[in-house]
Amino acid sequence: MKKVIFSLLVTIVAVTAAAQPLRADYRVVPLPDRIDGIKDRDFMLDGSCLIDYPLGNRDMERNAAMLSGYIEDLTGLHLSTRPTSRIYRDGCISLLLDPKVDSDEGYRITVTARGVEIAGKTPAGVFYGIQTLRKSIPAGQNGMNGMNGMNKQDGMDGKVLLPAAQVSASPRFGYRGMHLDCVRHFFGEETVKRYLDIMALHGMNRLHWHLTDDQGWRIEIQKYPRLTEVGGWRNGTTLGHNSPVNDGIRHGGYFTQAEIRDIVRYAADRYITIIPEIDMPGHMVAAMTAYPELGCTGGPYEVWTLWGVTDDILCIGKDQTLQFVKDVLDEVMALFPGQYIHIGGDESPRMRWQQCPLCQQRIRELGLVAKGKQSAEALLQGWFTTQVQNYLTAHGRRIIGWDELLDCDVDATATIMSWRGAEPGAQGAKLGHDVIMTPVGPLYFDYYQTDKTWNEPMAFGGCNTLKKVYDFEPVAADLPADVRHHILGAQANVWTEYITCEPQIQYQVLPRMAALAEVQWLQPTEKDYQDFMARLPQLVDIYKHYGWTYRARSLTDNEV
Ligand code: ACM
Ligand code: ZN
Repeated sequence: MKKVIFSLLVTIVAVTAAAQPLRADYRVVPLPDRIDGIKDRDFMLDGSCLIDYPLGNRDMERNAAMLSGYIEDLTGLHLSTRPTSRIYRDGCISLLLDPKVDSDEGYRITVTARGVEIAGKTPAGVFYGIQTLRKSIPAGQNGMNGMNGMNKQDGMDGKVLLPAAQVSASPRFGYRGMHLDCVRHFFGEETVKRYLDIMALHGMNRLHWHLTDDQGWRIEIQKYPRLTEVGGWRNGTTLGHNSPVNDGIRHGGYFTQAEIRDIVRYAADRYITIIPEIDMPGHMVAAMTAYPELGCTGGPYEVWTLWGVTDDILCIGKDQTLQFVKDVLDEVMALFPGQYIHIGGDESPRMRWQQCPLCQQRIRELGLVAKGKQSAEALLQGWFTTQVQNYLTAHGRRIIGWDELLDCDVDATATIMSWRGAEPGAQGAKLGHDVIMTPVGPLYFDYYQTDKTWNEPMAFGGCNTLKKVYDFEPVAADLPADVRHHILGAQANVWTEYITCEPQIQYQVLPRMAALAEVQWLQPTEKDYQDFMARLPQLVDIYKHYGWTYRARSLTDNEV
């Protein structure tokens, strides 16, 4: 008898649970600026709902298709999209452009019993509204195909109840970046596209793509085919942190120009601009292996199998080197339409230049003389950078470089990426440079996420916990008011010396990207770590849903 009552109870509970549609929660990551309840009945999203977008607008058409895909992923509901010239239609999700929305990338979602409206000043803003709506749907209760078995049986098939409310947000920073090193280990097109998907989920809009370094050249340059034929491959990789043991496995690969075009388009569809980095004059051994005449000694060189900084850098005494750089940049500019090209500039030891007759002759011809802490060779790097900067400026582009550029007198139109801490960024802003904050602490995501490193995959070192990332403030409190606008935003860097596969990339960035997203989107007064931690599991359910790897302990271990 007891058994019968028990199974009856179980059935009643199951039926009651099954009768509940999924309920959306707008308190997503990054948290919207405002969530205001509206006195109305909630909206039931079901398979009869259409997604309307303005007739003839290709960006909005793509936005509509993306939203339909996201909803299908999470719920199993297939919503058709429809071009329309009407502003609002009952029972639908309407995507629309509205000049009254606060900022270019801002959005406003309005949910009433009649329907859902996602408005933005631009299609990008609408896209961020779409991301918020998508993240508000609980993914945890659905299987991989988005269909909750119980719901399916009682006709609720993945329906979602959207509470009546107005939800709006504008990002704090215009530059919301992630970096990916595809050199130290090569990751192909599919991995980069998934990385872009992950960025889109987090409301990020710049991918800084590290494509060339001592350990490999990963971008096809048609004028210099040996860059990838020879420079794209290395004879093995050191084991661990620069041990004398090489794994003996030839490693390499590169992106063809067709693949790059495809990736650039894929990114643009998600409102992400790719900033390619061609690191110079250091970190060039792969290129010099292919074309030894680019170096001061003439080589021979070997694509590097170790990590770190090598003395061999480009010879700036030779006109041929400058021509090479311009030729490469011509093809880079043709592939990447964004405003910025990153030209590196970090970690360039100058001992070869000190010994090179041609570099010394260039220094004499230019009349460069050491001043204060700056050697003549440092000024030579400044001269070289200015040549590259002038070339790119003449083609309507701008340069970004690592903060070492501040040591060699570059023009203030160069944007500085502050990596050796946040202090160089503050210094750069005071000198009139635009700045992107990527300090090693806490924004190097190749660093450990805990001080208990024994259970972790090998990483560079350091300890950048989720909380440290969350607490990062890109604009230093003592930065003068008149230069604060120079801080364009923040970015996390993912160097891949010790990252050998895609799940490991995801493990290093998730969930730290979630914390960074709140740094990028929220005003400091809106941030609250405990609240963030309470909202994070709903986002992590989406990671799980897509099968992305993430560091689960960061959700429970309260690491500071
Ligand atoms: C850097 O981490 N060398 C910019
Ligand atoms: Zn030289």
